[in-house]
Amino acid sequence: MSELELFNPRRHARLIFELAADVYAWLTWLPEWRAHCASLVDYFPALERPLDVLDVGVGPGVSAIAIADRLPDARVVGLDFSQRMLTTAQGYLERYSAARQIHLLRADAATLPLPDASFDVVTGHSFLYLLPQREQVVDEIARVLRPGGHCVFLEPGDGGDMLSWLKVPGSPKLKLCMGLWRVFSGRAGRFSETTLAQLLGRRLEHVEVSRTLEGLGLLGRARRKDHT
Ligand SMILES: C[S@@+](CC[C@H](N)C(=O)[O-])C[C@H]1O[C@@H](n2cnc3c(N)ncnc32)[C@H](O)[C@@H]1O
Repeated sequence: MSELELFNPRRHARLIFELAADVYAWLTWLPEWRAHCASLVDYFPALERPLDVLDVGVGPGVSAIAIADRLPDARVVGLDFSQRMLTTAQGYLERYSAARQIHLLRADAATLPLPDASFDVVTGHSFLYLLPQREQVVDEIARVLRPGGHCVFLEPGDGGDMLSWLKVPGSPKLKLCMGLWRVFSGRAGRFSETTLAQLLGRRLEHVEVSRTLEGLGLLGRARRKDHT
């Protein structure tokens, strides 16, 4: 095994996130990160009933709480394979968002223990880039989306330069988050607009990818076909 394989964030994501859950939660529990997670809602479909939303890689819960705070009627499932992350998420939920309809689920996104066509929206904030089996996860996401359902992902992109993380508007703590995100994603594997569009386009249609966060981030949107 090479030195690179010994410490590869994609191979060892689960262990890394079990160990780093508390630090990650401290880093990302800040207004700007919550606002950015909440901005995924701008791309949700407008339906006349409460949306069923699956947030994959929910981590310490910041992304699911931010979404539920923007859409109080939505039924949100936050899924993660790290028990430590989910324990932290449960603590945040009890303290800050107990009234919201958020259910936490421990599972691997590569084999979702969820029925076919059961969600209107699947979201992921800083998630797909971590996966060794990205295609399998996208296939699973397509399976659990209802026909016409949307997915919205925010992923690290290959744009920006060494100092872009300093230019992201916000507090020093947000800049620290962005700097660490850039370093970590360099090891795990960032997307280009083309590679993210190709991944989402495997099983989904109406794929759109745009840049955000001073070029450091890519926002990918896609929809499941109306017919199967
Ligand atoms: C960078 S964190 C993002 C957390 C949150 N969405 C946010 O933006 O703050 C990524 C999360 O994905 C989880 N994760 C990675 N691979 C996974 C997999 N195959 N199945 C489920 N969760 C996974 C990790 O445990 C971690 O909590």
